[in-house]
Amino acid sequence: MASRRNRRNDDDAKPAKLSKSTLRKFFRLFRYLRPYRVPFSLGMLLLLGTSLLSMVFPGLMGKLVDATKGELPTDAEALLDLGNIDSVALLLVGVFALQALLGFGRIYLFSYVTEHMLARLRQDTYEHLLKLPMTFFATRRVGELNSRISADVALLQDTFTTTLAELVRQLIIITVGLVLLTTLSPQLTLTMLASIPVVAIVAVVFGRFIQKLSKQVQDRIADTNVVVDETLQGIQSVKAFANEAWEALRYNKAVTAARGLAMKGARWRGAFVSFIILCMFGAIVLVIWRGMHLKEEGVLSTGELFTFIMYTVFIGASIGSIPEYVTQMLKAIGATERLMDIHDEAAETISLAPKGDALQLQGRITFRNVSFHYASRPDMPVLRDVSFTAEPGQRIALVGPSGAGKSTIASLVLRFYDPVEGSLLIDDREASSYPLTALRDRMAIVPQEVILFGGSIRENIAYGDPKASQEMIEAAARKANAHAFISTFPEGYDTVVGERGVQLSGGQRQRIAIARAVLKDPAILILDEATSALDSESERLVQDALDELMKGRTSIVIAHRLSTVRDADKILVLDKGTIVESGTHEELIADSAGLYHSLSRLQLSEG
Ligand SMILES: Nc1ncnc2c1ncn2[C@@H]1O[C@H](COP(=O)(O)OP(=O)(O)O)[C@@H](O)[C@H]1O
Ligand SMILES: [Mg+2]
Repeated sequence: MASRRNRRNDDDAKPAKLSKSTLRKFFRLFRYLRPYRVPFSLGMLLLLGTSLLSMVFPGLMGKLVDATKGELPTDAEALLDLGNIDSVALLLVGVFALQALLGFGRIYLFSYVTEHMLARLRQDTYEHLLKLPMTFFATRRVGELNSRISADVALLQDTFTTTLAELVRQLIIITVGLVLLTTLSPQLTLTMLASIPVVAIVAVVFGRFIQKLSKQVQDRIADTNVVVDETLQGIQSVKAFANEAWEALRYNKAVTAARGLAMKGARWRGAFVSFIILCMFGAIVLVIWRGMHLKEEGVLSTGELFTFIMYTVFIGASIGSIPEYVTQMLKAIGATERLMDIHDEAAETISLAPKGDALQLQGRITFRNVSFHYASRPDMPVLRDVSFTAEPGQRIALVGPSGAGKSTIASLVLRFYDPVEGSLLIDDREASSYPLTALRDRMAIVPQEVILFGGSIRENIAYGDPKASQEMIEAAARKANAHAFISTFPEGYDTVVGERGVQLSGGQRQRIAIARAVLKDPAILILDEATSALDSESERLVQDALDELMKGRTSIVIAHRLSTVRDADKILVLDKGTIVESGTHEELIADSAGLYHSLSRLQLSEG
C-alpha cells in the first residue's frame, strides 16, 4: 500500500517533456518575478560572489601548502604575501567570513522573492479556480485541484529558493574550475577531463538504475504482504476449505519472485560499488599519477598539484549533482505547466469586487423552449423543450421520477450552466445579460445535503450576508426554527460546527441553511429536495421554516414527497426531461391516467 502511494506521488511530480508551449508556460512565471527583479538580481550577484569565492579556496589551500614560515605580517602589503603561512591562513578566514555574509544575503533575498511571488501565484490560482464554471469542477477531483495549489506551488518554492541557485552555482564552479585548471596545467586538465566527468556521469546513471531496481523489489515485497493479508483475513475460509497447502504455495511464489529480484538488485549494487572503487578511484589515481610526473618534471609545485586535485573534486561533485537539479527543474516546469493550464481555463464573469447595490429583481422566471445536455455527455439530452413561467412571488413545484432533470432546471436558474437551445429569462430579460455575481446574489438555494463550513454557527449563518449583525443573525435563526436548538448549546452561536466541531443532525443543518437564505433575502429561492432526507419530526420543523422563507419570493420547490407541494401555485410534472403535466394539485390529481396521479397513489401506498 505504502509503495503504491509513493508511486502515485512520483507520477504527480512528473518531469515535463520540454516543448515550446511548455517552456512558454514556464516563462509566464517570470511575470510574477518582475516586481521583484531588483532583489532577485541582487541575489544572483551574491550567488555569483559566493560561487567565485568558493573557487578561491582550493587556490589558497595550495598556496598554504607551498608557503613557508615567515614574519607575522604587520602591514597590508605583507598581509597579501601569499608565500607566508600566516597571511594565507588569515586570508582564508577572511574569504570564509565574506562568503558567510554573502551566503546569508543570498538565501534571504531568494526566499524573499520566492515567497512574495508564490503567495501572489497561489492567490491568483485560487481566485481563478473560484471563478471557474461548474462544468470545470464536474470533471476534476478536489484532491487534484488541491495539490495544484499546494504541492505544485511547493515544488516551485524549492526550485526558486534552492534548485535554480544550486544549478547556477554548479555551472559557475564547472566553468571557472575548468578555466583555472587549464591555466594551472593544460596537460593535466586533458587527462582529468578524459576520466573524471565520464566516470561521474556513468556513476549517476548507474545509481539511478539501481534505485529503480530497489523500488521494484519493494513493490514485490508489498505483493507478498498482500497474500499474507488476504489469507489471514480469510483464515476461516482457508481452513474450512483445507487450502493451507495451496496458500503456502501461493506465498512461496510471491516470495520467490521477490527474492529473485532482490538478488538481481544485489548483483547490480555489488557491481556498482566495484565500479566506484575501481573507476572513480582509478581515475583519481590516474590524475594524481600524471600530476606527480608533471611535478617531477618541474611543471607543477606540490601546492599547485594540491589545488588541482581539489578543483577536480569540486568539478566532479558538481557534474555528479547536475542531473538531480535538472530533474528538479523539469519537475518545476511540469508543475508550472499544470498551474498555467488552470489559469488558461475560461472563467465565468464573476466579480470579486465588493458587492454594490443589490440588483432590483421582481423574480419572474421564464423558461422558453429550453433544451439542455451536459457538456460531458453530449449524446444524452437532459431537458427537452421545457417552457414555463414562474410569476413574481409564485411557488412552482417540480416533481417527477429521479433523473427526470429537476435539479438540472435548478442549476440553469442559478446559471451554473446555460441552455443549449431556447432561452432563460429573468424579469423578461435574457438571464445571460445580467452581471453573473449580481444575479446570483439575488438567489438562494437550500439543497438536500447541506454542507456547513468549518467555523461557528454564527459564521455559517452569516454566509448569507457577511455584514449581518448579531441581531439580524438571531432573527434569521428564529425564522428558520433554528434559534431554539442553537440556544441549547452551551456556546450558542459560537458553537463550532463542521469537520472539527459539533456534528449537527440533518434537520439542524437544513435549518441553518434556511437561516442563511433568510439573511440573504433573495428574490428567487430554490429548494432542491430540502426535506427529503429528514425524519417526519424534523421535516415538520423545516417545512414550517421553509413556508416562512418562501413568503414574498419566487420559489422553485423540487420535492420528492408530493405531500409537500400540494399548495404550490403550479406543479410541473417532469419525466425524462420533458414537462408532461402541469397544473394545480386539484387539477392534476383529477386526471387518473396522469403521471402525477399514479405517483401520488404510489406514495400513499408507501406511506
Ligand atoms: N453534472 C452532470 N454531468 C452529466 N450528467 C448529469 C450531471 N448532473 C446530472 N446529470 C444527468 O442528467 C439527468 C438529470 O439529472 P438531475 O437533473 O439531477 O435529475 P433529478 O434532479 O430530476 O433527479 C440524469 O440522467 C443525470 O444522470
Ligand atoms: Mg435532483
